[in-house]
Amino acid sequence: MKKSNTILVSMFVVGISYLLFSYNVESESEYEALQITDLTEIPADVHSILENKCFECHTSESKGSKSKLKLNFDKFTNGDYSNGKLVSKFGKITKQLNNDKMPPKKHLKKNPDQKLSSDESKLIINWATEQANILAGE
Ligand code: HEC
Repeated sequence: MKKSNTILVSMFVVGISYLLFSYNVESESEYEALQITDLTEIPADVHSILENKCFECHTSESKGSKSKLKLNFDKFTNGDYSNGKLVSKFGKITKQLNNDKMPPKKHLKKNPDQKLSSDESKLIINWATEQANILAGE
């Protein structure tokens, strides 16, 4: 092979490796972006508790305007809450459940079946704490 050809071939190889490398970097950040979306997907066991005991007041379709303004679970998965907001909402959920404040006592008088068992409460608190830590990058 002529010397000039060898140089051309090496340049070609370097070029291809560069392209492959940058392609990999790109798909890695794409993967990270997907992971962040996945974080806000609510796991099925948590979802079914929230559905039975919280969604009545905390989704866009709920009756109470104050409750859904303070906490709207639809905004956990549709991108309306920023990551910072999500961290704060997860913190508030943990606080409310640790203090046995939700669902409200007045509501439980008429709907005693909506009271959280201590296992359900723990499951939601663990989920909220874990998600907040991941979102906060800890
Ligand atoms: C019957 C309606 C009702 C149900 C059911 C209910 N909530 Fe609430 N929730 C409210 C109301 C009303 C507020 C606003 C209270 C206030 O600010 O005075 C609220 C506020 C909150 C807040 C925000 C507190 C703050 O300081 O911003 C959190 C977190 C919360 N609820 C979590 C839950 C969770 C978790 C469940 C299910 C286990 C639940 N709620 C079930 C009515 C409800």
